[in-house]
Amino acid sequence: MSKLWGGRFTKKTDQLVEEYTASITFDKELAYEDIQGSLAHVTMLGKCGILPADDVEKIKDGLLKVRQRIQRGEHEFLVADEDIHMSVEKALIDEIGPVGGKLHTGRSRNDQVATDMHLYLRKRVVEFVGMLQKLQAALVGQAKANLDTIVPGYTHLQRAQPILFAHHLMAYVSMFGRDIERLQDSYKRIDALPLGAGALAGTTFAIDRHFTAQQLNFGRVYENSLDAVSDRDFIVEFLSGAALIMTHLSRLSEELILWSSTEFQFVELDDAFCTGSSIMPQKKNPDVPELVRGKTGRVYGNLVGLLTVLKSLPLAYNKDMQEDKEGMFDTVKTLQGALQLFAPMIETMKVRKEKMRKAVDQDFSNATDIADFLVGKGLPFRQAHEVIGKTVLYCIQQNKFLLDLTLDEFKQFSPLFDDRIYAVLQPEAVVNARNVYGGTATPQVAAAIERAEAELART
Ligand code: ARG
Repeated sequence: MSKLWGGRFTKKTDQLVEEYTASITFDKELAYEDIQGSLAHVTMLGKCGILPADDVEKIKDGLLKVRQRIQRGEHEFLVADEDIHMSVEKALIDEIGPVGGKLHTGRSRNDQVATDMHLYLRKRVVEFVGMLQKLQAALVGQAKANLDTIVPGYTHLQRAQPILFAHHLMAYVSMFGRDIERLQDSYKRIDALPLGAGALAGTTFAIDRHFTAQQLNFGRVYENSLDAVSDRDFIVEFLSGAALIMTHLSRLSEELILWSSTEFQFVELDDAFCTGSSIMPQKKNPDVPELVRGKTGRVYGNLVGLLTVLKSLPLAYNKDMQEDKEGMFDTVKTLQGALQLFAPMIETMKVRKEKMRKAVDQDFSNATDIADFLVGKGLPFRQAHEVIGKTVLYCIQQNKFLLDLTLDEFKQFSPLFDDRIYAVLQPEAVVNARNVYGGTATPQVAAAIERAEAELART
């Protein structure tokens, strides 16, 4: 089969080379973006008088027909065509004859492929913002239903201070909020058009890049033609944004896995989101969070992979850059898979309030609060810390919790104790004492929920 670039060659491409260098097996994913870019380009060629109007019409018609054939699954993606750009162009020429060969006027595959990637990611980023907002809404929903649920808060995975379960969930709402901001910020760099940069230096035709940008709804065009065809920063930014989203999802996954264990029993994931064991009949495994945790690795890998491809690459286009695609597609699919499942999994998750409460009642996570009580009585914090440390040690030796101690027992450790400590030590009191902006007290968490809901309603 003859190549679109075959003129300079006297020999057929080696079969293995053809297979090794082709990207069609994966860049066919860009078919619609490629055609979208071509439609805008040819419209611009017509508007600038570079192609006559009837050629433009024929080419546009042909491109739409090629798109239809792809939609219907009638288009053959052939390795011999190398990549999606030549596959579409070839199909166009097959469809409308040699006039199809005018489409590539004033354009190179280098600015074309960069344009396709911009178009592709621009769409994905918007979709991911929407998916993250759905997940935030699911978390906010559970937070609202658990505004009275007290759970141990942990540091070092040791019980630290009691908190509202709603407060814990709202921490993730904040994390995903930053992820959304990062995607929205990266959009600014995605929203630039490389087309018109040609192979690297611009083009001899009097094209109008700003017109093409308008057609494709890009906010601006790349300033420098070398940069336009060499830049893959916008993909790195997307991959790093995705890596952080997976970081957050994997942290939440880890907690869900722990919380659904018999040791914790804080939550129960819906049957629809779990799987069983082929041998142990009692098992209900949290496969979805486990896989999300596991797949985080490939998303990190794709980021490091692209950074490594770009490192030390001379300007402008190098074939190495074809390696930008598979990792990006893989990240998009991995993220879609995870986010798609996460929102409904959170929504349907059963929160076992009584188990959480039991855990709070059977620990020393109110210890800081009696230390603070003694501080209120004038004792320096460091001394109060020492007194309560000794009290806790006594409790452990006596197999008791702080609320089990009599006032006389308390007084053995400090004469400053009085019977008001029993109120101070109640988990509700401990939680509500942290009534600082961003703290776990009920009014603060209720306000955080309100802010999150307002933000979600705004978008
Ligand atoms: N398939 C190529 C890629 O993905 C398209 C650009 C090819 N340009 C070239 N000069 N060979 O990077």
